Amino acid sequence: MAALKNDRFLRALLKQPVDVTPVWMMRQAGRYLPEYKATRSSAGDFMALCQNPQLACEVTLQPLDRFPLDAAILFSDILTVPDAMGLGLYFEQGEGPRFKKPIRTEADVNALPIPDPLADLGYVMDAVKVIRQELNGRVPLIGFAGSPWTLATYMIEGGSTKDFRVIKAMLYDQPEVLHQLLGKLAQAVTAYLNAQIEAGAQAVQIFDTWGGVLSPAAYQAFSLSYMKQIVDGLIKQQDGQPVPVILFTKNGGQWLEKIAATGCTAVGLDWTTEINNARARIGDKVALQGNMDPCVLYASPKRIREEVATILKAYGNGSGHVFNLGHGIHQFVKPEHAGAFVEAVHELSQPYHQG
Ligand code: CP3
Repeated sequence: MAALKNDRFLRALLKQPVDVTPVWMMRQAGRYLPEYKATRSSAGDFMALCQNPQLACEVTLQPLDRFPLDAAILFSDILTVPDAMGLGLYFEQGEGPRFKKPIRTEADVNALPIPDPLADLGYVMDAVKVIRQELNGRVPLIGFAGSPWTLATYMIEGGSTKDFRVIKAMLYDQPEVLHQLLGKLAQAVTAYLNAQIEAGAQAVQIFDTWGGVLSPAAYQAFSLSYMKQIVDGLIKQQDGQPVPVILFTKNGGQWLEKIAATGCTAVGLDWTTEINNARARIGDKVALQGNMDPCVLYASPKRIREEVATILKAYGNGSGHVFNLGHGIHQFVKPEHAGAFVEAVHELSQPYHQG
């Protein structure tokens, strides 16, 4: 495997000195790029794109060809895991993800298989291998999965939800059934992430998009404890290199100490927590990733630079910060604005990394 030409993303996660603050964007490959839409339509649909390793590689590299990003993220989706458990994932145009067979009863949970990553999700591992090959050491490759709680919201509701009605009824009425499901998902996600690491992912991120809708007690019991199980079960070193783990709970700002105590390498922050506050609380234990409001990218490049400057100043001197948005980039953002963001992080962060 080619040696890394740009390793500042991995170095910042390990709090080793860097020349400038590394930056990538959640959902950096996607619909805000016209070339993404072109590749997706040539594939047929979104799932066909995920299942074609050559095309998944192509869209993974598209944002890197436009912007000097410091990491690539595997092009796939968190919902490939429940799909491999037999739920039948499909995407309704403009409606988001849906499952043909949502999970509703204890019998449904008991019947769920734990997928074998190589046999059932081999297309993802093939994509990881092709992307590593094509990257040829340009930047590190991030693998990812959904948190058990976040996956369970889609599996039980049958798709996206605003009120979490069915899963929260289960949480309060039949907690043992939900625990049974989350335990299976923790096993499935651990095996899936380890397979990605063995295929070539150099860091992994767990997306807990919906952990922040839980009460503090429920967050601990139904989301965080399963993410901790996953962190405990992950491969710690591959090819002699540590494999950093980033935990991102959207709206998790009040639980940072607990998230950092899982043993993860870095904590992802959304924009509702100030990064200086996060650094004071957990900066001695973990690196931080984030945290600009993705809506800033709707504003002018001049305003984008100002917001980047504010976050860099708030974090302060030294390594341990991976710049990112506080959630995924929106589909109506102009690509030039994403470019202005990436450029501003590199330019304006230099003074914070001297000596
Ligand atoms: O970041 C990247 O560039 C890698 C690719 C990636 C996708 N989804 C591609 C995608 C990643 C990391 C994800 C994660 C994901 N998927 C999450 C967690 C992160 C987050 O944003 O909170 C969630 C909750 C999902 C589930 C999912 N997939 C939803 C709710 C949707 C529909 C919403 C939408 O934006 O339309 C998807 C579809 C999806 N996944 C798209 C992409 C590029 C859009 C599909 C299309 O091309 O039309």
